[in-house]
Amino acid sequence: MENKHIAIIGLGYVGLPLAAAFSKKYPTIGYDINNEKVDAINSGIDPTAELGNKQLQGALNDGLATSSELGAIADSNVYIITVPTDIHEDKTPDLNPLKKASEAIGSILQQGDLVIYESTTYPGCTEEVCVPILVSTSGLKFNLDFTVGYSPERINPGDKQRNVTNILKVTSGSTSKAAEEVDKLYQSIITAGTHLAPSIKVAEAAKAIENAQRDVNISFMNELAVIFDKLDIDTGDVLAAAGTKWNFLPFKPGLVGGHCISVDPYYLAHKAQEVGHDPAVILSGRRINDGMGLHVASSIVKLMQQKELPLSSKALILGITFKENTGDTRNSRVVDVYKELKEFGLQVEVHDPLADAYQVHKEYGIELVEDTNLNDYEVILLAVAHDDFRDLQIKTSSNKVVYDLKGILPRADVDKRL
Ligand SMILES: NC(=O)c1ccc[n+]([C@@H]2O[C@H](COP(=O)([O-])OP(=O)(O)OC[C@H]3O[C@@H](n4cnc5c(N)ncnc54)[C@H](O)[C@@H]3O)[C@@H](O)[C@H]2O)c1
Repeated sequence: MENKHIAIIGLGYVGLPLAAAFSKKYPTIGYDINNEKVDAINSGIDPTAELGNKQLQGALNDGLATSSELGAIADSNVYIITVPTDIHEDKTPDLNPLKKASEAIGSILQQGDLVIYESTTYPGCTEEVCVPILVSTSGLKFNLDFTVGYSPERINPGDKQRNVTNILKVTSGSTSKAAEEVDKLYQSIITAGTHLAPSIKVAEAAKAIENAQRDVNISFMNELAVIFDKLDIDTGDVLAAAGTKWNFLPFKPGLVGGHCISVDPYYLAHKAQEVGHDPAVILSGRRINDGMGLHVASSIVKLMQQKELPLSSKALILGITFKENTGDTRNSRVVDVYKELKEFGLQVEVHDPLADAYQVHKEYGIELVEDTNLNDYEVILLAVAHDDFRDLQIKTSSNKVVYDLKGILPRADVDKRL
């Protein structure tokens, strides 16, 4: 792959590790509209901790450059867009970052350039929404003057085994030549190889269903957990027994937060509705998963009543990130449990050694506590399975409720697990 000059647009959890990976093989510049983030990255600090400061510093020493000036990437010939694709309050796709990034790239696009989208979206978005913006802002002709690709990111935040280069990558392009170019480009950095999809729409749909499938499967487990709670059966015991059948799928109940599994299904649902189909399974899964915070809080209060603990008791929630061993608190559903317990009247504190206290306060108005004495609380909710929590000596007693949402504590030491 000669003469490729790569620009990565959006230096977050996805873009920064990708920029570092490309910089090992190609001249690579990262671009982000957030100056503070760019300043931190240029001084060797990885704000996401996904790459880690050491690897980031290595990449910077090897030539990775980052900037918040669009002009810095104007001489690139491959633009890879990794901006957020969140949802609005009403759960419809927020395409503004994708549109803005497309406008910016369109304004510097030149003949022969390739634009690859990595952001998760619905089937059709790249060609129906992004390409027309590239065309109108560049004045160039699609598939004659420039081409487009789509290659969804599959990284799993906090997972130190699977990273951007050792996860097989789906690729696609707007012409067969572009598809081959996109595929070869990723093959040159992805050791796990690539899967060239027959069209951009197929690649977009594949990404959307990976997360929707997880969401729906977890929602079934959550529905079972609610039913089994009412029947006074331990869900973990039921799943262990059912899991002995060869074709029973090993999903578990839990809170579904973050910016992927709990968001991406709405993108697919949006497109389904646009073409006149009611995505009943997808949306009912979302509803069940979004209601689990209330279910956990009500279960805790019932356990407190059984032990005659007052509703003004002190509760400690261990963990507020959306999943274990990451500092990412975006769209954390632990916050739902926090709010419900407060509504019931409990004095709730939250401890999370990985979460950024400033960010948590800014986003949720919750002041994290740093030092905790487990004996000071009548209620303990283990909400996130950070490795740091695995060795804690937490034990239930006649005047204490311990709820293990992740099922990592010894069974005899807890009152309930989800
Ligand atoms: N985080 C993950 O684990 C993960 C995994 C797979 C796919 N994805 C998808 O990848 C995409 C990016 O996710 P992320 O977690 O890296 O997001 P992020 O919020 O961590 O990073 C996105 C970055 O884009 C920047 N940005 C926003 N608008 C911009 C613009 N117009 N121009 C330049 N920069 C802009 C933001 O400042 C931010 O730094 C999303 O579509 C997401 O769904 C994320």
